[in-house]
Amino acid sequence: MKIEFNSKKNFDYLVEFVSEKSVNKKDKEYAKLFGFEFEEASVLNIASSNKIIVNINDLKDLENYKIGMAKAYKCLEKSALKTINIQAPKNALEAVLEGLMLGAYSFTKYLSTPPKITEKSFNFSCDKLEQKSLEQVIAVCESVNLVRDIVNSIPDEIYPKTFADMALKLTKNTDIKAKILDETELKKQNMTAMLAVNRASRHEARLVHLSYTPKGAKKKVALVGKGLTYDSGGLSLKPSEYMVSMKCDKSGASAVLGAILAASKLDLKVEIHAILGLAENMIGGDAYKPDDVLVSRSKKTIEVKNTDAEGRLVLADCLDYSQDLAPDFLLDLATLTGACVAGLGEYTIGVMGHSQSLKDKIKTASIKSGELTADLPFNRYLKPLIKSEIADVCNISSSRYGGAITAGLFLDNFIKEANKDKWIHLDIAGPAYVEKPWGYNPYGATGAGVRLLIEFLKTL
Ligand code: BES
Ligand code: ZN
Ligand code: ZN
Repeated sequence: MKIEFNSKKNFDYLVEFVSEKSVNKKDKEYAKLFGFEFEEASVLNIASSNKIIVNINDLKDLENYKIGMAKAYKCLEKSALKTINIQAPKNALEAVLEGLMLGAYSFTKYLSTPPKITEKSFNFSCDKLEQKSLEQVIAVCESVNLVRDIVNSIPDEIYPKTFADMALKLTKNTDIKAKILDETELKKQNMTAMLAVNRASRHEARLVHLSYTPKGAKKKVALVGKGLTYDSGGLSLKPSEYMVSMKCDKSGASAVLGAILAASKLDLKVEIHAILGLAENMIGGDAYKPDDVLVSRSKKTIEVKNTDAEGRLVLADCLDYSQDLAPDFLLDLATLTGACVAGLGEYTIGVMGHSQSLKDKIKTASIKSGELTADLPFNRYLKPLIKSEIADVCNISSSRYGGAITAGLFLDNFIKEANKDKWIHLDIAGPAYVEKPWGYNPYGATGAGVRLLIEFLKTL
């Protein structure tokens, strides 16, 4: 797909955003004839006029434009049309472009004969300033789609080493520096909890530390991502239906990689460190086990009662590592709990942390980006549920309820006192990977977190 600005070509087709009130008489009659209901973001293909109309009722909700554009694209996708002009209100141009780029994504790498799609170019009419912001939208969407590609890729292709190598390659001709810690270095760093999770894998674990340090940056942000390239559950093996799709357990690490790449393309004036904790949770004679007690990098000891609660062990060590960088803000992203999906549904990110003002900042970024979030509050009664009789903390809760928050409270054990108000935990287990299309998201990986992070970083 090509995006063009102010092209003077003759267009094959038009995508026009209208509302029931603004639509012209001829189109309104056509709509009536075909029983078209003017529902939110519904599309009508008027082939006789070479155009698709997209109906928007609530002009203020930019998500409508994204969803509508994604639908319009799907109408056109299989056609032989090559040049398409977009006509949308000025305030909605960015949203329309986002809906187009994210809605047009498809993952066909594993098909022996991928569908042939006629290359299309989409034209946006805009002034110089608008073009600049549209180009930023392109950079962010490219990152989101890259993250989707990574997450959708199978664990035989993407395991810690290949993931780390890919991160190195992707940052090569950028202003991002990459450091990769292999197992020898992870041992030197005393990252025993993370290493224990990976022990039964035939692949070695890796930690990737990417740094983007632009001149003039006033704030330093550390982004920590859970990167389980596969989560079988380990010895506390997942039932087969729950194991399918666990290639998505690297979504947090993929999102922080996507975010730092986009931030550098956008030239954001914020220092960013992305820490990717890459491991594979497998079974075998060497596997870590329920009943183990692990000594984390922070020296805190962890009783393992369930090897499927592995993400928090990887994050414990990575969060500790990231605090050595003395960040002003510390955000972690993880497909951490099924409980978060059960509580909030598949489309919403769970937000946890101590600082209300920081949570408010995330809310603002959520609204701006269109990524849905909901706060999951800590409380004094949930905290004791992860107490251990024999170690400093236990990796699972003693209660069946509140699992997303008790996981967040587990992570809180590894946040130093001085950093409590700088930290936010984002549980992306729901929206990171959905086995049906929704909005402008396709089946599978969505790239959850990237747009939210970029909007957050822009406010610093
Ligand atoms: N990776 C899973 C969480 C998950 C669930 C991600 C659904 C994406 C979709 C995580 O490692 C896990 O297995 N969590 C357990 C924790 C439990 C053992 C305390 C869970 O949620 O069941
Ligand atoms: Zn697990
Ligand atoms: Zn997991």
